[in-house]
Amino acid sequence: MKKISIAIDGPAGAGKSTIAKIIAKKLNIEYIDTGAMYRAVTLKILRDNIDINDKEQLLNMLNNIEIKFVNNRIYLDGLDVSEEIRMPHVGKYVSQVAAIKEVREKLVLLQRNIAKNSSVIMDGRDIGTNVLKDADVKIFLIASVEERAKRRYKELKQKGIEVSYEDILREIEKRDFIDSTREVNPLKKAEDAIIVDSSNKTIDEVVEEILNIISFKIKGC
Ligand code: DC
Repeated sequence: MKKISIAIDGPAGAGKSTIAKIIAKKLNIEYIDTGAMYRAVTLKILRDNIDINDKEQLLNMLNNIEIKFVNNRIYLDGLDVSEEIRMPHVGKYVSQVAAIKEVREKLVLLQRNIAKNSSVIMDGRDIGTNVLKDADVKIFLIASVEERAKRRYKELKQKGIEVSYEDILREIEKRDFIDSTREVNPLKKAEDAIIVDSSNKTIDEVVEEILNIISFKIKGC
């Protein structure tokens, strides 16, 4: 099979990672969660108490950080941080960190390198507009803000993390605002991306819709 690349962008909680993981399995390609990479950098900044306004400190950290995916788990400097990066204290700061130009330059480079050698489905905010501008298929996955807050609330509750629905809703609204108004590569639909709305649809329905788009765009998929 020829090397393929699929970009899935959209706001927080639209279902990108759930859907992308299933599609990766079905097509037997690699799944890259770029949001997890921004979360890993945020965790590193929090852990090492890095002052993000101190460019020298920031660049030094970026030059030495190691982020890797192994079997869909993310490793920061050799340690599996897949659970910790989902904690609210990381969620609270990640948009600010993702708005830093130097952080984006470093991670975009890593992301392009991964996609250079293998077939991938990559989810994020700027995959179709920037990271993989030539992706074979571009999906822009959306859902209403209330639906997205409900999903995230349920997800955290299931993990035993105590949060209020109102706090989650406010955090998602704030994140949407920062992500889509930042100067560097904001969350934006690529002109050639296809919008899929996951509100009021089951996971299976969304997967099927996207698989149909993929097979229409890539013959033989
Ligand atoms: O998808 P997520 O919620 O795990 O993403 C975490 C944050 O990282 C979110 O605020 C947006 C940012 N992000 C980004 O700016 N660019 C990407 N390609 C992926 C995520």
